[in-house]
Amino acid sequence: SRVRDADLIVVNTCSIREKPEHKVFSWLGRLAGLKKRRPDLLIAVAGCVAQQEGHRIFRRAPHVDIVFGPGAVRKLPALVKQVRKERMQVVDVAAPSTAEPAEIRPLGARSPRAVAFVTIMSGCDNFCTYCVVPYVRGREISRSPVRILEEIRHLVSAGVQEVTLLGQNVNSYGLNEGEGLDFAGLLARADAVKGLKRLRFTTSHPKDLSADLVRAFADLETLAPHIHLPIQSGSDRVLKRMNRGYTRALYLKKVDALRKVRTDIAVTTDIIVGFPGETRGDFDKTLELVRQVQFDNLYAFKYSDRPDVPASRFSDKLDEMEKQERLAELLEVQSRITRKKNQSLVGTTQAVLVEGLSKKGNGQVTGHTPCNKIVNFPRDGVRIGQIVPVKILEAFSHSLLGRLDDHCGERFRTKGGMLHAA
Ligand code: 5AD
Ligand code: SF4
Repeated sequence: SRVRDADLIVVNTCSIREKPEHKVFSWLGRLAGLKKRRPDLLIAVAGCVAQQEGHRIFRRAPHVDIVFGPGAVRKLPALVKQVRKERMQVVDVAAPSTAEPAEIRPLGARSPRAVAFVTIMSGCDNFCTYCVVPYVRGREISRSPVRILEEIRHLVSAGVQEVTLLGQNVNSYGLNEGEGLDFAGLLARADAVKGLKRLRFTTSHPKDLSADLVRAFADLETLAPHIHLPIQSGSDRVLKRMNRGYTRALYLKKVDALRKVRTDIAVTTDIIVGFPGETRGDFDKTLELVRQVQFDNLYAFKYSDRPDVPASRFSDKLDEMEKQERLAELLEVQSRITRKKNQSLVGTTQAVLVEGLSKKGNGQVTGHTPCNKIVNFPRDGVRIGQIVPVKILEAFSHSLLGRLDDHCGERFRTKGGMLHAA
């Protein structure tokens, strides 16, 4: 199953920022030679860049056969047939999806998996001024809770221990559909699925984080103590121009509420640096917020213009150098915090879900703690899918090193994918 043996190559794409979009075209460039040698090979471009660019993809990559958007995923077999028959390039980007997001189940056996993702909704109605998602993915559509729960049960019966519920804005799950189940309700139902050990979700929009969701962190046994809560900026002026719908104070209040019900909760975030018009003062407010909240980790991005979004027409864009400097400064502040947080785990015992062999190929296995930190440790006979106690020995900036803590049985028992005092 190597790329050069494939009959059909689907390049799935993301257009959220400029950089991933550039990668698409460099990938396609690399496939041009392959196509020349094997003219029967079909190359398809899927996802948001396909949706956004449509026919324009052919101009930059004339060797592509099929361009199809997120709403046309289920039509791929028909599109392949059409190309084979008519020997013509085809495009299907009619509209961002208006149908319930499709579940895509792999056919046949797969190597056993410990963790899986389940899409609960697609699209976004928020229209943050920098963001292309509402245009390429369309309006928010939630999947039926019945089908979501069925999919989770199916995964669990196939050996999955941990499920992450996915959506651009999971907190507004079910609000348009009137099936009477909101996100907190869905989480409670998922938590009750027999055999599921850990439940996670992403992404949560701060403005829609409800009191019920906060309570879920106290009440649900399987809900892991981690939340990804993108703030984007620490300056109210910038937040307003981003159309985020919350203030810095409201954000801080929600983090406090979460930490109150779940003292060990890990909080991670996304930040955009160099939004149009961001002053040094605005950026200092972001740095100050980062120091105040003490995030477990953050993803920081330089603002980039996306086609036709409101912010692309804002004046006072920052130059690349300035954005780069702010990015480096922010990452430096956070890396000290991350290192300190990781260091504080040395000597503790963590419940690690064994997800697979470590990529380093050194015989170690890898997995995550409930707070979502990566832990590598010598295999010592553990199986993929087990949740085992691991003593943390060393902290790095992106991972932890540990060893199986097999004498901790008297002190701990695992419950809901976490360790509890016996
Ligand atoms: N420029 C830079 N970063 C962006 N993001 C979304 N749109 C842009 C953009 N135009 C970032 C946000 C979001 C993450 C997924 O990508 O921080 O949370
Ligand atoms: Fe984009 Fe997220 Fe804002 Fe939706 S909520 S517009 S996906 S940044």
